[in-house]
Amino acid sequence: MSSQEATTPIGVIGGGYVGLVTGVCFAALGHDVTIRDIDPAKVDMLNAGRPPIYEHGLRELMAEHTGRLTYTLSLGDMLRASEIVFIAVDTPPTHSGDADLSRVMRVVDELAEVGADGHILVMKSTVPVGTGAKVRAALDERGLESVGYVSNPEFLKEGVAIEDFRHPDRVVIGSSVDEHGDRVAALYDPVDTTVLRTTVPTAEMIKYASNAFLATKISFINEIANVCEEVDADVTMVAEGMGFDRRIGRQFLNAGIGFGGSCFPKDVSALKQLAGNSGYHFQLLTSVIEVNELQKRRVIGKLKRHLGGLAGKRIALLGLAFKPGTDDMREAASLVLAGRLMAEASDVVAWDPVVRDLEGHLRGVEAAETPEDALRGADAAVIVTEWPEVLGIDWGAARGLMRTPVVIDGRNALDAAEMAGAGFTYEGIGRGAPLGVGAVA
Ligand SMILES: NC(=O)c1ccc[n+]([C@@H]2O[C@H](COP(=O)([O-])OP(=O)(O)OC[C@H]3O[C@@H](n4cnc5c(N)ncnc54)[C@H](O)[C@@H]3O)[C@@H](O)[C@H]2O)c1
Repeated sequence: MSSQEATTPIGVIGGGYVGLVTGVCFAALGHDVTIRDIDPAKVDMLNAGRPPIYEHGLRELMAEHTGRLTYTLSLGDMLRASEIVFIAVDTPPTHSGDADLSRVMRVVDELAEVGADGHILVMKSTVPVGTGAKVRAALDERGLESVGYVSNPEFLKEGVAIEDFRHPDRVVIGSSVDEHGDRVAALYDPVDTTVLRTTVPTAEMIKYASNAFLATKISFINEIANVCEEVDADVTMVAEGMGFDRRIGRQFLNAGIGFGGSCFPKDVSALKQLAGNSGYHFQLLTSVIEVNELQKRRVIGKLKRHLGGLAGKRIALLGLAFKPGTDDMREAASLVLAGRLMAEASDVVAWDPVVRDLEGHLRGVEAAETPEDALRGADAAVIVTEWPEVLGIDWGAARGLMRTPVVIDGRNALDAAEMAGAGFTYEGIGRGAPLGVGAVA
């Protein structure tokens, strides 16, 4: 930011994946940023210069702009230090599949208790259509008419979140008062992107519709993959061939063991529920969700075909996080896989370069120190997350470590012919018949 450009004191409520990245990136643009979280352990870590989450490049960026970043438990301190306040609290699914807005509404209550005045609240959390109106009414009821409300949904991808902040495909700003939208839009002036201005409900729907569409693309290619297995076609080439069509595009056509993470599963479900609550049955999304659930379990069938029964078999899971570059385990396929394998009485051993807390996430799963330790004595390995370290395994040497050289590649990340050449029975997802020694077609 040049010295002529004004800086705006920014507050962020919620120092998780979205709030922390947003806050640190705005600090890097020259603004003073105060991040408030309710978790004392997180705030302590942040004050010690350590991000409580793993996100590529975040720790370094925090250190570089430490002078413009304040972390606090106090909402009052944050409000006094800021004019524009981003809400980035979690909105997890409820048992019914709707989005749980209790944390968002708690923030509104807290603002009334502490006394906000003239601030602009910017919703970064993913919230169902209609939440803006609900929050506006709640603010007004609590005497906070002077507080503005803007919707600014977040599209970052974990693992490349900082890059996404700097080069977003678009920024969406929904507002009912133009001046409030203008002030938030001005924060993005240094970012080279299209800023789309719209109403609050439309902004809210853009976020849900985008995630639902991407999830649909994944479930679609996964079903194509399943058919490919029946007819001996290779889905990776099918996706490449489809991707040349600019109306389709190549992205999100990677067949695998289904989508996970903190966003797609909950947002698809919340949109389905939102439609249902409004009297519309969203048939397509119902199938997208069902296909995804079945896809996570297909690996079990593949293992059974190669190993016979799974009881007492040692199965190595390589990668646990829902995708590379993050430690996020929310809705990770590894959770379903490990659970199903343990239900089959398999011994499960797992390795991930970042996720180490197996007690918290995967009780009963043995943690390996290295990928090789996980493979030693294993009857089969499953590639769950395509971490570079997993792809970089010396498979030729690894073969000798395993009791039976069976690899199920849940991400189609390895070269099928090379794996067969190295002596493995190798099977991906939708890549035609299994290859290699002892392959069962
Ligand atoms: N993670 C992603 O990739 C991603 C991408 C786009 C949008 N989103 C959306 O952004 C929102 C946040 O997601 P996240 O992944 O950052 O969640 P997260 O769980 O990592 O972080 C949320 C943080 O909010 C804190 N918090 C809860 N209530 C609070 C309060 N009253 N005051 C201050 N802090 C409070 C929690 O302690 C936690 O640290 C969600 O709605 C999510 O759907 C997430």
